Amino acid sequence: MSTDPAYFTRMYEGSDDPWGFRSRWYERRKRDLTLACLPLERYARAFEPGCSVGMLTRDLAPRCAHLEALDPVPAAVEQARHEVAGSDHVRVAQGRVPRHWPEGTFDLVVLSEMLYYFDDAELHAVMGRTLASARPGATVVAVHWRHPAEGHVRTGDEVHRILSGVPELSRTVGHVEADFLMDAFTVRPREGTGP
Ligand SMILES: C[S@@+](CC[C@H](N)C(=O)[O-])C[C@H]1O[C@@H](n2cnc3c(N)ncnc32)[C@H](O)[C@@H]1O
Repeated sequence: MSTDPAYFTRMYEGSDDPWGFRSRWYERRKRDLTLACLPLERYARAFEPGCSVGMLTRDLAPRCAHLEALDPVPAAVEQARHEVAGSDHVRVAQGRVPRHWPEGTFDLVVLSEMLYYFDDAELHAVMGRTLASARPGATVVAVHWRHPAEGHVRTGDEVHRILSGVPELSRTVGHVEADFLMDAFTVRPREGTGP
């Protein structure tokens, strides 16, 4: 079973910023590394599901002509909107992947500290929607804590092992630390769309 949606609501009832994205050096450094892993300087249209309080959204914004962010918890959405206020090219919506997925295609999908909340069926659906909405040559970046943790259905190591086996993804960056893994993939051109 995927993580109970009520778990996330409870997390934000206990704290404005339950994972310390604003306050922790660990999180700030991880965001900087995530941005450094993106092979292109600029992206036309990016999607960041599970944006939480919007710190990564805020940092991604200058690299994107358009950025869609999404989180199911209203308290998170409100903070994320505040974080990117004035950036008209960023839209923060309330919703839950894989069910809610913005229309159109993307050249960047950011899956940061998200995929270990999904059981096999939902993870498969999220990756299916990622690949269906990714333009050929798009970047998919994944970042996950490695150790077992409350609320996680699987470890980050398992998530990245699964991603490494997705035939449509070719890894261009692999960053390994004791506590987290970060991979950037390029979406291979679909058959018949290559040169
Ligand atoms: C650990 S935070 C990750 C924050 C951000 N991606 C980062 O790495 O800085 C996980 C977030 O995912 C959200 N979330 C949980 N299930 C989700 C789903 N099915 N779709 C979108 N977001 C979800 C939670 O509400 C929470 O804000």
